[in-house]
Amino acid sequence: MSLETKMSGLTFKNPLMAGCAGITEWLEPAEKWLKAGAGGILAKSIATDPNMRRYLRPTFYTLNRHGLKGAMTECELGSIYPPEVWVKEMQPRFVELCQKYNATFIQSIIGTGADTNDWVELAQLVESAGAEGIELDPACPIGATASAEYASMELGDNPEFLAEVIGAVKKAVKVPVGVKLSPTIKPLDEIAKLAREAGHADWCTLVNAAGGFHVDVESEQIMGANTIAGYIPGPSLKWWGLYKIWQVRQVCDIEISGCGGIWDADDALQYILMGCPTIQVVSSVYFDGPRVFTRILDGIEKFMDRKGYSSIEDFRGKAYRQIKLYKDLPMEEEIKLEPTPIYPAFDVDKCNFCMRCVTACIRDAIKADEAEGKIAADPMLCLGCGFCVGLCPTSAVKIIHGKTGRVVWDGVGTCNFDWVNW
Ligand SMILES: Cc1cc2nc3c(=O)[nH]c(=O)nc-3n(C[C@H](O)[C@H](O)[C@H](O)COP(=O)(O)O)c2cc1C
Ligand code: SF4
Ligand code: SF4
Repeated sequence: MSLETKMSGLTFKNPLMAGCAGITEWLEPAEKWLKAGAGGILAKSIATDPNMRRYLRPTFYTLNRHGLKGAMTECELGSIYPPEVWVKEMQPRFVELCQKYNATFIQSIIGTGADTNDWVELAQLVESAGAEGIELDPACPIGATASAEYASMELGDNPEFLAEVIGAVKKAVKVPVGVKLSPTIKPLDEIAKLAREAGHADWCTLVNAAGGFHVDVESEQIMGANTIAGYIPGPSLKWWGLYKIWQVRQVCDIEISGCGGIWDADDALQYILMGCPTIQVVSSVYFDGPRVFTRILDGIEKFMDRKGYSSIEDFRGKAYRQIKLYKDLPMEEEIKLEPTPIYPAFDVDKCNFCMRCVTACIRDAIKADEAEGKIAADPMLCLGCGFCVGLCPTSAVKIIHGKTGRVVWDGVGTCNFDWVNW
């Protein structure tokens, strides 16, 4: 079995990169990620504009005490190192470290919204210091208000300029060039398309963190930084990330490195099944350290072993290829009730009579009698909505087709909407 993967001509020993943030700004932690198996380092963005090289301290506002495990808002900007210092003192050591661990090294850069030269100069600098790939970061939601120069890029009001920047950088360097986008820029898919087609970007990282706020109700204050610095990475981003991949792939064929809310192998595999050749972890590493890498890689290997896959290509993109537009799915002519053609069937041996489904059903369709060992739904009341299936803690509920008795959905994978033709 091999976890090797390729993206835009770069080869990675496995798809898992330590993503772009403070976790890839300092050598000692970077070595921990590499020791734990990281297949690549996407080094912290270096920035031309001095406003992007300083940030508010304290910087991180974790939300554990607010019931959001593994979530935070934060307001870090680019690397504190000026580019000329980074490429002289830090980047060569990162490159050497990556070579030692057979990992791929990509450098992120942040130019200004003023002209393309800025980005070109930065790109040439980091290429000459050994970057195997360069990622442009024109979409940091905090940068939008921290620096006037940067803002014109982030707000997405100048996608043509971004395409120009990518085109100019591509001409000026030999290594592949990617672009990172935030889910809160608009219109993200059009920007990605321009970046690909007009700018010839090789890959796109989706997604950067989203802009946002958390309100601390007891103090009646904005949590952490009371500015639009609110920058929310972590678990809530995964759905955005997966959705944005689909959205961008609808308009262009750019390769996508998946990022956002990856904590364990299940998250990572979701991005690979959506077609990503590489994936990046950031905030999970802040919370959980190097074991994030070992548990993800171990989980991917176990998954591949169980499924009999010998390479990432064997399953990459499998879920993405199943996505259809709503209008193209089999649909009833009209929703007929009383009785509904599909309704739940219960496995009484699995049911522990917790009554969750009984309480949750908005149509009061489920009647249960623990003493008698009976539970059933009334098709005259049931909507066939499926809510009780996913809710049941013991997987005792399936939706079946009344006429044929065939299973429509057992809570695993996609429903069989073809039942409308049975
Ligand atoms: C502290 C911190 C700093 C970050 N700095 C950068 C950066 O300099 N450049 C960049 O492109 N993305 C940066 N990001 C965004 C991450 O690379 C990533 O896109 C985002 O956090 C979502 O991934 P996650 O849910 O795994 O954290 C930063 C994220 C965090 C948490
Ligand atoms: S499928 Fe929906 S309406 Fe029918 S019993 Fe379950 S929750 Fe109630
Ligand atoms: S939720 Fe599941 S276990 Fe609980 S009563 Fe309903 S069928 Fe039984």
